[in-house]
Amino acid sequence: MPARDPLSRRAHWSVGQPISYLMHMALAKPHLISLAAGFVDQESLPVETTRAAIESLLTDPAAGRTALQYGTTHGLATLRQAILDRLLTSDGERGVIPALDQVVLTAGSNELLHVIGDTILDPGDIVLTAAPSYFVFLGMLGNLGARPIGVASDEDGLVPESLDETLRRLKSSGELPRVKAVYVTTYFDNPTSKSVAPGRRPQIIDIVKRHSAAGPIYVLEDTAYRELRYFGDDDPSLRAYDDNGDTVVCTGTFSKSFSPGIRVGWGLLPRALVDPVLAAKGNIDFGSPNFNQHVLAKVFELGLYKTHVEGLRANYRVKLAAMLDAADKHLAPIRGVRYQRPKGGLYVWLELPEHIDTGSDGELFRRALDAGVIYVPGRYCYPGEGQKPRDNAIRLSFGVQSPDNIKRGVAALAEAIRGVV
Ligand SMILES: Cc1ncc(COP(=O)(O)O)c(C=O)c1O
Repeated sequence: MPARDPLSRRAHWSVGQPISYLMHMALAKPHLISLAAGFVDQESLPVETTRAAIESLLTDPAAGRTALQYGTTHGLATLRQAILDRLLTSDGERGVIPALDQVVLTAGSNELLHVIGDTILDPGDIVLTAAPSYFVFLGMLGNLGARPIGVASDEDGLVPESLDETLRRLKSSGELPRVKAVYVTTYFDNPTSKSVAPGRRPQIIDIVKRHSAAGPIYVLEDTAYRELRYFGDDDPSLRAYDDNGDTVVCTGTFSKSFSPGIRVGWGLLPRALVDPVLAAKGNIDFGSPNFNQHVLAKVFELGLYKTHVEGLRANYRVKLAAMLDAADKHLAPIRGVRYQRPKGGLYVWLELPEHIDTGSDGELFRRALDAGVIYVPGRYCYPGEGQKPRDNAIRLSFGVQSPDNIKRGVAALAEAIRGVV
């Protein structure tokens, strides 16, 4: 009799994140300039602000003890209220006013995305995602046995016509009932830093609602980079267009705007998902880190959050300029190399001539390592089905490195590219 497999089916579906390999390489070769990791700027992490908040919190022993105790699965109410107030203000008070219990706090927004996936997806269910998309989420879907299918996106983000067309096609093939969600990062997405144009936002909601007759299709709106806007005005989120509030799951995080180490993310859920999500979450974590939520609530209470985000924007504006200046100088002269000029986020997306393979087994990647720079191959960011993946794209991050290193890294990359064009 064959021995029983010690692993679950889910463990076999889980292939791990390809980026772990890049991180490993960057750590093993410290001389490399990593333009790969989507980490945030080390120097602007809020040490002083966090110290002030913790000191204030622990000065009152009773409040300190409450923070050091278990919290609730839902998360700290004062912080959830601060998040909801900020969201509604940013959305210009548009859309239905949700109840506070629709806001849930998690250990980073990845936890929220995972719990939502666990709550609504059975193996074989379909999630439509903009292509390219946040690769960690694609990995998570693989882990859940779900089928991510890529929908076209252009310089204005997810293309509504492509979404409609994909849904129609799935309807004709009888697969529409398996479509459970559409995932879209509305602001300065990962990996391209593109945002969904304001005019497209209500269209996306209309299309999804129109195809939801066989059962709800949720829109997972990921707003991870909303606060990293360096130019222009903010736009209302997708939830602002969800007239009855039953379609959009809006997720956010303090990882980019404050600190990833503090691991606080949040979700605003349609009413029907609140209880099932809390039940699933409670079984996993029995409440995400309570102390961290109290620290953040204190940061809001002391009025320190807004100041921190403003400083952060000024800092990243300089880094983005360093990357674009270097790209203009070193990459623009290379025939067939294209990139956009993002207004926010942490990334610049490069497209190289079609014949260049940017993958980690390819010649360009090897030459880039030799030249002292590492990047994320664009291929990682495409789901296995739907839109054809681009093998000739690169995600560059300007979050971690100093402006000087960014310039050096881009120059090194240009040298590697010149060797393969
Ligand atoms: C688009 C997007 N969503 C969500 C996250 C998750 O962040 P966290 O789990 O730290 O909140 C990230 C992190 O890079 C991201 O790029």
